[in-house]
Amino acid sequence: MNTETTKGGSARTVREFFEQWDAYGCIIENNYMFHREIYAAVHRHLKKHFTVDYKMLELGCGDASYTAQAVRDTPLVFYSGSDLSSAALQKARLNMAEVPCEQEFTRGDSFAIVKTEKRCWDVVLAGFSIHHLTKEGKGELFDRCRGLLNDGGIMFILDPYRREGESRENFLQRWWENCEAAWTEVPPANRALFREHIFAHDYPETVQSIEQLARRNGFARTKLLYLDPPQLHGLILVQS
Ligand SMILES: C[S@@+](CC[C@H](N)C(=O)[O-])C[C@H]1O[C@@H](n2cnc3c(N)ncnc32)[C@H](O)[C@@H]1O
Repeated sequence: MNTETTKGGSARTVREFFEQWDAYGCIIENNYMFHREIYAAVHRHLKKHFTVDYKMLELGCGDASYTAQAVRDTPLVFYSGSDLSSAALQKARLNMAEVPCEQEFTRGDSFAIVKTEKRCWDVVLAGFSIHHLTKEGKGELFDRCRGLLNDGGIMFILDPYRREGESRENFLQRWWENCEAAWTEVPPANRALFREHIFAHDYPETVQSIEQLARRNGFARTKLLYLDPPQLHGLILVQS
């Protein structure tokens, strides 16, 4: 991974964390990050936006369990998912098997992959992965993805978002307080592991900052489609 665009340590430590997929699986099964609502909004938008064949590139696809639900009954013809974690990709293959489209899965750094990607896409989906990048790295990602999208193409940015004016430290503290209060099904030892991971690797932007980065790098329109009740996680639509 390009260390200039990634904060908080190497891709190796992120990969090692997500090789233990079951710990994160428990979070999404219990909807502690509002995956249900966020991916339901992705699904609604895909249904409305795509009435003819489209292709999707997913960055940091994880187990793709919610993606498989989000693309159901839409005219998806080609899906490409990449992730650092082989454990996640193994599950992604199984979860996406129910989706009737051509598929490929690549283990590696998604943000390096987009730099060499030559094909064009209609949708780029980044689910809870771009907060590991620096602000500059996020800008570069928008620039690169803008060049990869067909006319009418869109990006979905699902991520943690700081409130306007909130520092990273205050956000992390708020995130941890929510975690301690709400993640009741997660054993304390696992919560501590998450805390370590999030405090070391997460550099979330505000909604406004993501919108500015997208606009400065070639996108014309952005829209916040969903923000969760604790105001920690949300979904931004980015369009040319
Ligand atoms: C929080 S999980 C999100 C998984 C899934 N997208 C979701 O919405 O639940 C973050 C995923 O991104 C992957 N990831 C993080 N940084 C990555 C990178 N540079 N390249 C590829 N995958 C990455 C991790 O391995 C992990 O599977």
